[in-house]
Formats: sequence, structure tokens, C-alpha cells
Amino acid sequence: MASIESVQIEYQKDIKNNLEINEIEHKYLSRKGYIAELFKGVKDILPEAKAEYGQKVNELKQSIESYITEHNSAPKIESIDIHPVNITDIKSELGSISPISWLIFRIQDIFAEIGFSVATGPELETEKYNFDALNIPKSHPARDVWDTIWVQNPAGIKSLLRTHTSPVQVHYMESHKPPIRIIAPGKVYRYEATDATHETVFHQVEGLMIDTSTSIATFKAIIQYFFKELFQQEIKIRLRPSYFPFTEPSFEIDIWIEDHWLEIAGAGMVSRVVLKNGGITDPHIQGFAFGFGVERLAMILYGIDDIRLIHSADIRFASQLGKIQL
Ligand code: PHE
Repeated sequence: MASIESVQIEYQKDIKNNLEINEIEHKYLSRKGYIAELFKGVKDILPEAKAEYGQKVNELKQSIESYITEHNSAPKIESIDIHPVNITDIKSELGSISPISWLIFRIQDIFAEIGFSVATGPELETEKYNFDALNIPKSHPARDVWDTIWVQNPAGIKSLLRTHTSPVQVHYMESHKPPIRIIAPGKVYRYEATDATHETVFHQVEGLMIDTSTSIATFKAIIQYFFKELFQQEIKIRLRPSYFPFTEPSFEIDIWIEDHWLEIAGAGMVSRVVLKNGGITDPHIQGFAFGFGVERLAMILYGIDDIRLIHSADIRFASQLGKIQL
């Protein structure tokens, strides 16, 4: 173990011999240099001598530091040759819009053409809006269809992350009188394992149209128009009878893509119970609702075979958008 005196002697010798500045710095001030070693040695010093010892090491350290500053051969600022940099020449990578946001914008545009505006609702929902008001009471077996992420709420209200965008239907009816023409895009949450076609968090677009003469025929025409615009070609669709507690009758919408039917959306005429829960009691007023998954649509449109790629935050994936013709 080096002593202060021996280090001092060594240091004087090095100065006399004009040892390079960076070598002095390394030898004395680096993490494993003499000064660090001396500081470590404080533990072997008698308690009453520790303070004095520490002070001496500090003094030595400071004198080495000032010697280094004085003799540092690094060029002084004024002698540096400064070349102006043209910052317009610096190219940084641009971010890009995620395929999902892009697709949602596109969907909004298509529906805007036929008078649909955009509505939103909370992602943190209550049991009332996500289930009860949609005619899915507690004991209802259909609740199991939507694997739910429940959220603890200090106020004692049962909260959850919405499992679908359908609660927006009720919120909107409560605050707007018919005629209603909206789409409601947004995130939804399901408590399920992820795989190539399932994600815990994904996006849906809900549609709602309510008026005096809105029928299944109206619905079919609108959805036909939507797919034609989106795919930029005539798309064959079919409605298959199905079941949702909040629509009556209910159906699944299939589209014909590359020689087979693909299930793409749930839909139906809005149930009287739901209309009433939204404050609409006039028997002459009726409408339809539909809901589809945006990621699923993106996978079909762009030929993506694993949904997990979409939210992977991989810039190589997201930046392909520029090449995608929408
Ligand atoms: N909310 C339903 C789902 O998530 C889809 C749907 C919306 C069905 C509107 C009918 C009407 O599965």
C-alpha cells in the first residue's frame, strides 16, 4: 500500500521527467490511480489521524489537478479551427404514422363523405356502460364472451377497461338526439393470451346510425360503400345471422377476399332495450350499429400475418406505410 509520502516523491519525479499529461492523469487520478489508492488506505489509519490524512491526500490531489490543468496541451478554444456546419445537410430519420392510425384516418374520411361524424368515449368504463346498458346484465352468459380487465376503484364503482367500443353508442344517445350518424374509433382491452391473431389491446371502430327510416337495407348499402372505398374495388359482402345482446336481429358481416369469406364485423339493428337506455323511446325511430377490429382489417389490407407486429414499435414495420397504397 502506497503512502502519501511515497506518492508525493513519485509525483515530483514524474514532473521533473516531463511525463506526459495524460499519463500523469491516468497514473494518479484514474479510478485505479494512486490518489484513489490513498483514499482507500484511509481505513487503515488510526481514527484520530484520519482527518489529517484525508486532508493531505486531498491537497496532493488538488495540486496534481491544477498541474494538469495548467499543462494540458489541449488547444485553447480560440485556436480551434471552426468550420460552420450547415444544419440543413444533417439528415435524421423521420418518424411515421402507425398503420393503425393511418387506417383509422382513412376510415373516418370514408364515413365523413356520407355524413358520419367521429365520436369518442372513455377507455376506463363502468360496468353500466360496457355491459348493463347494452343489455348484458350480470348473470348473462354473454358476458363471458368479453374477457374483462377489471379495475379497482376507490369509490366502490365497478370499473373496467372497455372490452368493446359499443358503450360509446349509449354515451352518444344520452347526449344527442336522432338523427345520429357516428363512428367511434378507439382502443379496447381483452383479458386473453396473445397470439398471431389476438392482442390484449387493439382498436375497434363502432358505427351507429339512428333515424326514422334506417333499415337493414340502409345498413347493407352503407357497409357496401365503405368496403368499396377502402379496398378501391367492388367487395362482395354477406350478412350471416348471429347473436349480440344489444342488437336484434344481429349478424356477422363477411367479406369475400381471395376466394373465401372472411368474418370482419359484428352488427345488427340496435335493440329497443339499448335505445331506451340511451333515452330513445319513440317507436318510429330505429337504427343499426356495427363494430369491427381495426388490426384485423389492417392485416387483411396489408397482408400482415401476425397482429403482434403491428404494435411492435419496430420502425422498419411502421415506415413501410409510405409504400402502402391506401
Ligand atoms: N361490440 C361487439 C364486439 O365487440 C361488436 C358489435 C358492435 C356487434 C355493434 C354488434 C353491433 O364483439
